[in-house]
Amino acid sequence: MRDFTFHNPTRLHFGTGQLKQLSSELEKYGNKVLLVYGGGSIKRNGLYDQVIAILKQEQKTVMELSGVEPNPRVTTARKGIDICKTEKIDFILAVGGGSTIDCVKAIAAGAKSEHDIWDIVTKKAAATDALPFGTILTLAATGSEMNSGSVITNWETKEKHGWGSPYTYPVFSILDPEFTKTVPADQTVYGIVDIMSHAFEHYFHHETNTLLQDRMVEGILQTMVETAPKLVADLKNEEYRATVLYNGTMALNGMVNMGYQGDWATHNLEHAVSAVHDIPHGGGLAILFPHWMEYVIDENPARAKQFAVRVFGIDPADKTDKEIGLSGIQALRSFWNQIGAPSRLTDYGIGEDSIEEMADKTVTASLAFGRFKQLTREDAVAIYKAAL
Ligand code: NZQ
Ligand code: ZN
Repeated sequence: MRDFTFHNPTRLHFGTGQLKQLSSELEKYGNKVLLVYGGGSIKRNGLYDQVIAILKQEQKTVMELSGVEPNPRVTTARKGIDICKTEKIDFILAVGGGSTIDCVKAIAAGAKSEHDIWDIVTKKAAATDALPFGTILTLAATGSEMNSGSVITNWETKEKHGWGSPYTYPVFSILDPEFTKTVPADQTVYGIVDIMSHAFEHYFHHETNTLLQDRMVEGILQTMVETAPKLVADLKNEEYRATVLYNGTMALNGMVNMGYQGDWATHNLEHAVSAVHDIPHGGGLAILFPHWMEYVIDENPARAKQFAVRVFGIDPADKTDKEIGLSGIQALRSFWNQIGAPSRLTDYGIGEDSIEEMADKTVTASLAFGRFKQLTREDAVAIYKAAL
């Protein structure tokens, strides 16, 4: 475990009925609010009307930016930045899933910068400030509601990059499991895979003396293995929704990975697939993560064994660490398949002819990626081929 400083400034309001916190939160910020949301799910499930009623009651002047895409586009962020600059917006409210929240992070930073937001996303320029923003989360998946990260897609160049800054933590996030009940089965599964994948990105590292961190990450994985099938079979169940929602936040708000850095190669591999093919992030992760694990297992078979035994209860008797680890990876693959996640790139119609282009995208930010094992473009080609 390395030395660390931990600070997460997001105020979290969690539980049924917590939308009541919105009024007192809004009182702290200025009058002009930009409300940002996605393709309309919040209108269909009634959340939009509830939020608008509170904004009116607080006498806010409200502008709207709707239509944020899954895999949010830099062009949409630019539209939001224009509105913030011309209308002198004081506060941004994101209502939706990770895509809406990520787009709002880009808008908030871009509104306070002279640089084009794509230069900030691609790290040619740094964010130096941001408008304050809050979130009302409607989908358990990314953890964006309590971290400073954002993932933005440039459809012209077919690039998708993660970025973040100390200025892009939400000032508050409201998480009511009730609002996630309308998430359809497929998106629920993608969210589950994403949450577990964040745990896996943390888990595979070479740091020593991370006993508590290991147990916390394994706790997230065990809870997801226990709860996810029940939720998929009973999508309106508020307890299961709450459990998964809380897991999603805890998996990527910095609480379980203090003192070490995770791998993150598989997220880079997946972002390259989504950048070219616009597939759901969790769907891509379900396909790629088991293949990445098999590809890098020789880096530390004991680590894979620990995961296999503690998370999937693999019997270690009479087997090498590597054999036990491989059984754990197979158990993970079956688990994800059983809850309805895809397992091959061809499930999305992605064939061999696309591999070179996707591999190019894995190295646009840097020539090597991943910390557990540093990977190159050639490694990306090998993993994509195995995943066809
Ligand atoms: O757009 P609407 O109409 O709202 O519909 C959305 C969208 O079609 C729908 N949805 C959301 N809440 C719903 C709902 N439908 C019914 N009822 C509800 N309550 O679900 C669809 C997917 O939404 P999206 O926001 O795209 O999903 P998610 O939260 O999985 O976000 C994915 C994006 O986040 C990035 C991904 O790469 C991807 O671009 N990530 C962000 C991270 C971060 N900021 O920390 C980390 C992650 O690893 C990830 O890379
Ligand atoms: Zn993710």
